[in-house]
Amino acid sequence: MEAPSCPALLAACLALQLATAWGDGCSSFGNLFTEIAENSTHGSLVAQLPAAGDTGSAGLQLCLAGADAIWFYLDGRSVRLNVSAERALDREELESPVLMVALTCAEDGFSPVEYRIIVQVLNENDNRPHFQGATVLTHNISELAAVHSVVFSTQAEDADGDTLMYVIDTASPDARFFRIDLPNSGKVVLARALDFESRQQLEVVVTAVEMNTKERFNASAHIRVNVLDGDDQYPQFLPCTPRTHHGLTICTSPVYTANVTEGQLQGGPLSFSPGSVYAEDGDRGLRAAITYSLLAGQESGRFHIDNMTGAITLLQAVESSRSTPAISLSIMASQVNDANKYAVTQAVVRVLAANRHPPRFAHPMYQAFVPAGAREAALLLTFGGHVLALRAHDPDFPEGVNPQVQYSLRPSTNHSQLFQVMPNGLLVARTDRLRPDQTYRLQVLARDEESGETANTTVELEVLWPGQAGTEWGGLPVPPWGSPPAPLPCDPPKGPPCPFAL
Ligand SMILES: *[C@@H]1O[C@H](CO)[C@@H](O)[C@H](O)[C@H]1NC(C)=O
Ligand SMILES: *[C@@H]1O[C@H](CO)[C@@H](O)[C@H](O)[C@H]1NC(C)=O
Ligand SMILES: *[C@@H]1O[C@H](CO)[C@@H](O)[C@H](O)[C@H]1NC(C)=O
Ligand SMILES: *[C@@H]1O[C@H](CO)[C@@H](O)[C@H](O)[C@H]1NC(C)=O
Ligand SMILES: *[C@@H]1O[C@H](CO)[C@@H](O)[C@H](O)[C@H]1NC(C)=O
Ligand SMILES: *[C@@H]1O[C@H](CO)[C@@H](O)[C@H](O)[C@H]1NC(C)=O
Ligand SMILES: *[C@@H]1O[C@H](CO)[C@@H](O)[C@H](O)[C@H]1NC(C)=O
Ligand SMILES: *[C@@H]1O[C@H](CO)[C@@H](O)[C@H](O)[C@H]1NC(C)=O
Repeated sequence: MEAPSCPALLAACLALQLATAWGDGCSSFGNLFTEIAENSTHGSLVAQLPAAGDTGSAGLQLCLAGADAIWFYLDGRSVRLNVSAERALDREELESPVLMVALTCAEDGFSPVEYRIIVQVLNENDNRPHFQGATVLTHNISELAAVHSVVFSTQAEDADGDTLMYVIDTASPDARFFRIDLPNSGKVVLARALDFESRQQLEVVVTAVEMNTKERFNASAHIRVNVLDGDDQYPQFLPCTPRTHHGLTICTSPVYTANVTEGQLQGGPLSFSPGSVYAEDGDRGLRAAITYSLLAGQESGRFHIDNMTGAITLLQAVESSRSTPAISLSIMASQVNDANKYAVTQAVVRVLAANRHPPRFAHPMYQAFVPAGAREAALLLTFGGHVLALRAHDPDFPEGVNPQVQYSLRPSTNHSQLFQVMPNGLLVARTDRLRPDQTYRLQVLARDEESGETANTTVELEVLWPGQAGTEWGGLPVPPWGSPPAPLPCDPPKGPPCPFAL
C-alpha cells in the first residue's frame, strides 16, 4: 500500500492502519474546536480524534498542515503539543491567540478530505506588569499647580492584558503630597500645595497591581518630582529678619537709617544702616528684576532714588535739625515684570546738628568732698559746701548745653561701684561704704551721642570726717568756681523729693 502524499509543505503526516469500515475512515472526522493553556508542556493533549468504525482494515493517512502545524504533532489519534525549552507556547508572542491547522485525511481510493482544528490558546498570568522607561521617572511640576489637579500620569503595561490598579506607596517619603483618585487611570493628583521655597524635590513610589489575577503581581516606579519655582513670592528688602507667624516663616523688612547734617549736601548716595537699600525677588528660582521708587510724602521731594540700584541721594539740604530732626521715607521695591508684586519699607534719615566743636570740660580736674556717714548716699560737694555739678560745654548749642551729651564713669576709676554720675552731671557716692581720709580718683567721660565726640576730666575725692569742711589739699590747683551750680534735680525743701537721703 502506497502512502498518499501530503498536500502541503508544512505537514506532519501519519499513516494509520486503523480498523475502519472501508470508505468510512475519514468521514468520522469533523472540524474541531478546542483550547489549550499557554506554556503547556510538550506532549500535552490538544485534541483526541474520534475513533472510526470498528470493521475493515483500510489505511488512513492523516496530515497536519498549515503555518501553525509546527505547534502540534500526531500521536495515534491524539493531537499533541510540540514545544521545547527554546520554543514555548507563549500567547503573548503569538500573532493570534487562535491557532489553526488543517487536518487532511486520505483514504485509499478516495480523495482526501480536509478538516480544521482550531485551537484557542488560553491566557495564563505569566507576565508581570512593568513600567516603561527608566527605573526612576522624573516629572517637573510648578509649585503653583492646583491642589486636586492631575499633575502627572503613570502607565504600566501588562503583556497578559491584566487590569491594573495604581496605588501610591504610602511608605514612600513624600506620599502625602499625592493621591490617585481613579485607581485604574494611573493619573496622580496633587493632594497638598507644593512650595518651591521649602522643597525643591519630592520622591514618591507608584505601584501598579494586577486586579484580576490570583497572583496579583505588581511593579513599582520611583518618581522624582522637581518642583519648579512659580512667581508666588513678593520682593523682600534685605537684610530681612526671619520670623515665625502661624507656622509660616516670614521675612520682615529692615528699617533703613542714615544720617545727614543740617545745612549740608553731601555728594553721592546716603549710607544706610543695616545695609544699602536692596530688595530681591522672593522667588529664588526666578529672581525677577526689581525697580525702586519713593512713595510720595512730605519730604520725599528732597530725595532721589535710583530705580535700578535703590541708591538714595539728598537733593536739597535740610535747614535745621531742631525743626526737622528726622525724615521718614517709604521705599517701594517692585518686580519689573509685575508691578503688583511689591514690598514697601521705611527709611529714617536723621538730621544731625552741624557739629563744629566737641564738648569740653572747663577744667582737667575738679576737687570734691563727701562726708563719710551712716546715710546711704550723698552728692559730692566742692568748696564752700556747694554741690559739684560737672558740665561739659558745647559751643555748638545755645548756652553751651548739648542735650545729647551723656556722662559716665570710666572703668579706670577705682571702686566705680561706689559712685555714680547722673545724666545732669551730678555725682553720687555710697557714703555708707566710705571711710574718712580715703581718697578716690574718678575719671568722668562726657560723650556727644550724636557725633561720638568725647571729653574727660578727673575728680579728686576726699572722704571727710562728719562735720569736717573741705579744704584745699595735695597741692592741687583749686578750680575757680564759675557760674553758680544748677538747681538740684531733687531738693526736698523747694523741689521734688530725692531718690536717696542727702
Ligand atoms: C516538533 O517540532 C520540531 C521543529 O520545531 C521538529 O523538529 C520535531 O520533529 C517536532 N516533534 C514531533 C514529535 O513532531
Ligand atoms: C512556563 O512554565 C514553566 C513551569 O512550568 C515556568 O518555569 C516558565 O517560566 C513558564 N514560562 C513562561 C514564559 O511563563
Ligand atoms: C525638567 O526641567 C529640566 C530643567 O529644569 C529639564 O532639563 C527637563 O527636561 C525637564 N523634564 C521634564 C520631564 O520636563
Ligand atoms: C508587591 O509585591 C510584593 C511581593 O512580590 C509584595 O510584598 C508587595 O506588598 C506588593 N505590593 C503591593 C502594593 O501590592
Ligand atoms: C528707570 O528710570 C529711567 C529714567 O530715569 C527710565 O528710563 C527707566 O524706564 C526706569 N526703569 C524702570 C524699570 O522703571
Ligand atoms: C584710688 O586711686 C588713687 C590714685 O590712682 C589712689 O591715690 C587712691 O588711694 C585709690 N583709692 C583707693 C580707695 O584705693
Ligand atoms: C548716625 O549717627 C549716629 C550717632 O549720631 C550713629 O550712632 C549712627 O551709627 C549713624 N548712622 C549711620 C548710618 O551712620
Ligand atoms: C582725656 O582728655 C584729654 C584732653 O582733655 C585727652 O588728651 C585725652 O586723650 C583724653 N582721654 C581719653 C581717654 O579720652
